[in-house]
Amino acid sequence: MKASELRQKYLDFFASEGHKVIPSAPLVPENDPSVLFTTAGMHPLVPYLLGEKHPEGKRLTDIQKCLRTDDIDEVGDICHHTFFEMLGNWSLGDYFKTDALKWSFEFLTSPEYLNLPKEKLGVSVFEGDTDAPFDNESYDIWLSLGIDKDRITKLPKKDNWWGPVGNVGPCGPDSEMFIWTGTDTAPKTFDPENKQWVEIWNDVFMQYNKTAEGKFEKLSQQNVDTGMGMERALALTNGVDDDYQTELFLPIIKKIEKITNKKYEENLKEFRIIADHFKASTFLILDGVLPANKMQGYVLRRLLRRSMVKMHQLSGKIWNAESIMEIVETILTIYEGNYNINTEEDSKSVFAVVADELNRFAKTLDAGLKEINKIEKIDGKKAFDLYQTYGFPLEITEELFKLKGQNVDHAEFEKEFNAHKELSRTASAGMFKGGLTEQTEIATKYHTATHLLNAALRKVLGEGVQQKGSNITADRLRFDFSHKEKLTEEQIKEIENLVNKAIEDNLTVTSEIMDKQIALESGALGFFIDKYGDSVAVYTISDPSTPSGRSEPPFSREICGGPHVKQTGELGKFKIIKEESASAGIRRIYAVLG
Ligand code: ALA
Repeated sequence: MKASELRQKYLDFFASEGHKVIPSAPLVPENDPSVLFTTAGMHPLVPYLLGEKHPEGKRLTDIQKCLRTDDIDEVGDICHHTFFEMLGNWSLGDYFKTDALKWSFEFLTSPEYLNLPKEKLGVSVFEGDTDAPFDNESYDIWLSLGIDKDRITKLPKKDNWWGPVGNVGPCGPDSEMFIWTGTDTAPKTFDPENKQWVEIWNDVFMQYNKTAEGKFEKLSQQNVDTGMGMERALALTNGVDDDYQTELFLPIIKKIEKITNKKYEENLKEFRIIADHFKASTFLILDGVLPANKMQGYVLRRLLRRSMVKMHQLSGKIWNAESIMEIVETILTIYEGNYNINTEEDSKSVFAVVADELNRFAKTLDAGLKEINKIEKIDGKKAFDLYQTYGFPLEITEELFKLKGQNVDHAEFEKEFNAHKELSRTASAGMFKGGLTEQTEIATKYHTATHLLNAALRKVLGEGVQQKGSNITADRLRFDFSHKEKLTEEQIKEIENLVNKAIEDNLTVTSEIMDKQIALESGALGFFIDKYGDSVAVYTISDPSTPSGRSEPPFSREICGGPHVKQTGELGKFKIIKEESASAGIRRIYAVLG
């Protein structure tokens, strides 16, 4: 089966069961500074799993691009990737375990869909603990679907519980489906420890919210979150055991063989890391990430530089620009037509970023590798020097010294690093591993403040002001908008006063679902409206005491995915801390809530 066919079959199947197909969200979460990347299909849907209404309804399906760096050290085997696509379907307080498991089973085994043999299927269910009981419902549903009891394994939380993303948020017991990949008959009993059982799909029953105190509270609605890894599903459906031998990777592998004159079979790890990291980098760049020393940019830098070290190990040199361009084009061609990718248009911009980063690192790579050869015993200080002088990310130094049986002292590295506040903050915040979802509350406040600022800018500078971008961290908001001149002191004061007045008036934030066209005609502002479907959520910030029927327009009205605070009084004092040019005709404001 071709990848395009698999994607289409999945979406069609769930659409036929009443699910609305929604587009993939970007790899960088739009209004959630608590994690660096979208790590699962459910991540962009967290507000809706918690109860907010989704404009497209209660049954959704999509193919979400995801990036996970937790398993980066595992990349190199047959089935680990940093970038991957996740096929998913969701119930937002609608159907629950019976339908979810029945549909997963049907899609996996029906000759119309994946046609995987039932006799090669094993499943797991949550065995229960003090936080939540044994999932006997899933157990019974699997029995009723014809799975033998020896093929239903009960496992503890560490295996059969999913979420939250970060430390708090929606989560629940899950049920995982595995396929026997051995050439012999599948064993009578399903044993997840046996690596020939390969996981293909995960159905999560999100009915709990993990609180900051570590408690599991029942959510107001019972949700289903599912995830099937596209790469794994494609390999298993085609009877291939190596994901890198599917059409999602093979063209890249072949290109690397051509460039290096080396054989994939003899250099599996290097080929896979280069293919995976280049692909992940391409998708990050397409979503606007640039190499940098912090946050998402640091991960991109690390991926690109690690591929370069592997290129060097493989061919003793860095590849030339022509070869790099060929790789970028090959990756884009694989995904042409998906995720708005247009190889011809995108290849130049992706190449420019990749080439620039490779050129920077190329200057010091040789010298750095020589230096590494000279170092007899690595310590935190030397690792920092390698970073500072030769541009070797800590993780790459660690990997190279692990080969010599040596570890880097992290505490010592961090000490050296203190001057470099930004990266150490990113690293020590644990953001490469997961997230800090406690920050979501403050992010929500900044999100509502962004709407107030957008409205205030138009009131002060005129209706010609158009939003050009927005970014929120736990410390501030950033807002880009079209406007030619620098703002005067008076204008800045006036904008601040308008926002602060809206906060003092404690305006109410309400949302309603409506047709996109009607929303736009009703005056709702929309940024990037193409990314939304036909129904949209419109957030209105207005004075609740305004008698209905009065023609006074609301303070703000925008098409947006949320979430927002309920009352503007929750925001605190608003202050613009910087106003500058972002690019020609575009100004940028940084503001904080105190
Ligand atoms: N969110 C679940 C996962 O990523 C489906 O496995």
